[in-house]
Amino acid sequence: MYEKFARDYEKAITDNIYNGHLERPSLFAMLPELAGKSVLDLGCGPGLYAEYLINQGATVTAIDASREMVEIVKEKLGDNVRTYTQDLSRGLPAEKEATYDVIICPLTVHYIEDVGLLFGDVKRLLKQGGEFIFSTHHPMVDFEVSPSGNYFQKELITEEWDTVGHPVEVSFYRRSLTEWFESLAAADLCVTHLSEGKPSERMKSVCAESYKKLSTTPNFIFFKCEVR
Ligand SMILES: C[S@@+](CC[C@H](N)C(=O)[O-])C[C@H]1O[C@@H](n2cnc3c(N)ncnc32)[C@H](O)[C@@H]1O
Repeated sequence: MYEKFARDYEKAITDNIYNGHLERPSLFAMLPELAGKSVLDLGCGPGLYAEYLINQGATVTAIDASREMVEIVKEKLGDNVRTYTQDLSRGLPAEKEATYDVIICPLTVHYIEDVGLLFGDVKRLLKQGGEFIFSTHHPMVDFEVSPSGNYFQKELITEEWDTVGHPVEVSFYRRSLTEWFESLAAADLCVTHLSEGKPSERMKSVCAESYKKLSTTPNFIFFKCEVR
């Protein structure tokens, strides 16, 4: 989806219900003041977050495994962003320690089987007092499609999503809430704020039915962490 259909994905998530009216506004609400800050955007996709961060006055590095996504970010943001491809499951070997005030990773960690190396590098790259903010699927939502029926067992799930207007197979890892906290704690990252997301007010007029559903049922989960 993120390589072959990168451009369709960009179009699809720019103003859709789940990304545009739920995920991004919920994560934006957890961000600190960004003017003059150095921010690392992990799993940057087509750069909607990077664009927002730059507009808030941040200096941004945006990284993604997909060459096509990085190409879109370059086309869109040019010299305003430092961007390159990197598989985050291999960590962030090109980045120097204590470089960033804020590291974000929206909707990407569930594509990584073992987040140990990545979370360790997040800790290494954060300046003192820096914050790591990421979002992922809500564990209870993914548990509904668990092949094993064992909530506590990490497992690979494959589904067909219609995000880009036709079915595309997507695979991701489902983990328990306990496992997320344990992985963060192992990297000395301490959760300071947890959110289960909140639809934007505008969603009400765009789609009242979705607003009702997403105001009463969790879909994503958001973590804000600091180095312990
Ligand atoms: C759901 S999209 C989210 C994009 C962006 N963060 C946003 O919210 O608009 C997930 C992104 O993670 C990237 N991704 C998936 N696995 C990755 C990996 N192992 N390393 C780096 N990026 C990865 C995909 O290429 C895709 O751009």
